[in-house]
Amino acid sequence: MDNKDKRIYLFDTTLRDGEQSPGISLSVKEKLEIAGQLKRLGIDVIEAGFPIISAGDFEAVKTIADKVKGPVIAGLCRAEKADIDRAWEALKGAENALIHIFLATSDLHLRYKLNKTREQVAEAAVAAVKHAKRLCPNVEFSAEDASRSDIEFLAQVVARVIEAGATIVNIPDTVGYAIPEEYGEFIRNLIGMVPNHEQAVFSVHCHNDLGMAVANSLAGLLNGARQIEGTINGIGERAGNAALEEIIMALYTRKHYYGKETAIDYGEIYRTSRLVSNVTGVSVPANKAIVGKNAFLHESGIHQDGVLKNRLTYEIMSAKLIGVSEDNLVLGKHSGRHALKDRLEKMGYTLSDEELAQAFVKFKDLADKKKEITQADLEALAGDQSIAVPEKYTLSYLQISSGTGMIPTATVKLDINNMSFETAAIGDGPVEAACRAVDKITDIFGKMLDYKLNAVGEGKDALGEVVSHIQIDGKIFTGRGLSTDVIEASVKSYVNAINKYSYQLSVQNQEK
Ligand code: KIV
Ligand code: ZN
Repeated sequence: MDNKDKRIYLFDTTLRDGEQSPGISLSVKEKLEIAGQLKRLGIDVIEAGFPIISAGDFEAVKTIADKVKGPVIAGLCRAEKADIDRAWEALKGAENALIHIFLATSDLHLRYKLNKTREQVAEAAVAAVKHAKRLCPNVEFSAEDASRSDIEFLAQVVARVIEAGATIVNIPDTVGYAIPEEYGEFIRNLIGMVPNHEQAVFSVHCHNDLGMAVANSLAGLLNGARQIEGTINGIGERAGNAALEEIIMALYTRKHYYGKETAIDYGEIYRTSRLVSNVTGVSVPANKAIVGKNAFLHESGIHQDGVLKNRLTYEIMSAKLIGVSEDNLVLGKHSGRHALKDRLEKMGYTLSDEELAQAFVKFKDLADKKKEITQADLEALAGDQSIAVPEKYTLSYLQISSGTGMIPTATVKLDINNMSFETAAIGDGPVEAACRAVDKITDIFGKMLDYKLNAVGEGKDALGEVVSHIQIDGKIFTGRGLSTDVIEASVKSYVNAINKYSYQLSVQNQEK
């Protein structure tokens, strides 16, 4: 096997299929931040969105295509001329663009969803690829629901789209129905049935409905696929997509078995996972492989004893390799801005002077409440800051009175452009009362769709991190708030979402 055969490609669809997870809605700035991190991770193809689907998606794909140089930037489209033209409009500034067209090939989808015959589908696929090829040299065709399609028909479609110019053909297990051995065999047989298969890269894209997305993807790889599609932390439609960090570490840890190479910078894996979790508000389960909080912890005495004698007894990977810092150096209230900057840089966060200044204010505020600022606290602070929008509204005072038999009442003071505004409101609970007071001051009325509280770090003084999804004017904004006081963290997350809304409004007004 020469080096050309060893190299496989990683296609990340966190910003497209990942964003299709229930409740996730990312702003252009948040998507750009993730795309920048995917580039640092060494991802080959970043699918930035589905340009025709909304103005926001178009803007995100265009911004990423214009600004993120290095990886291939892909935009999704249906097999329709208008979709392809819109995708190209967004992608044309990319150093390397990829138009990604999908059309279902299973009889089930043809009959109930598309109402088309097999020949009509094959013709539409060919026409779409030909049209895309006139605009862009790189074209991927995805046969949606491929794993449930008739293999002979699928092979004909694949051969025809390759002839029409497709450079990548993707064989998705759209509904997560496949089983590793069966899917691997399907890929091998399919490749064997496509006479011009050498003119394209075969790709796999597996969903996780039966919990087998990663295993299926790797089976595809062992049977001739050279590109794997997935998302960070496995987020995505329904049960999600194949988790790329698991695929990456399986290929690394079992390199003699798989014999494949990627362009991944392993030290960026953990940071990428944290960023995606922070920005999307989808937390990573503690026992999640590779990036879960417990993935490298040893609880049982027998295991601890073994690890102390030789780590290899119970560890197959090193936490340090994926960028989990073993250095639990503690910063405190006497630490200066320089120490904070230095520490954040060692953790891989490069904040602008302005972002650092804001992070430092938050750090000092936290250090007043907590004796020791841990690595986890700093990660929460830096993650918070790196995706920050200008803080038009800042919570400067919060007083709550609530208790059994009382109507919860909140008094809130917000700073707006160096002026303070204070008001009080009541609600069904203390958080609701405070949010209503914020509404009265800002004249912006948000609806809290969901709310999640995580403890960052350990101990009674652990930071509370609240991630909420707030609906304002029909759009959903993810708000984050950090504090040792959970009610304050909740109100801060609400104010953060309002700041995002008001920032988006000001950008839209400037563009008019
Ligand atoms: O799961 C799927 O089939 C898809 C296609 C659009 C590639 O996401
Ligand atoms: Zn998918």
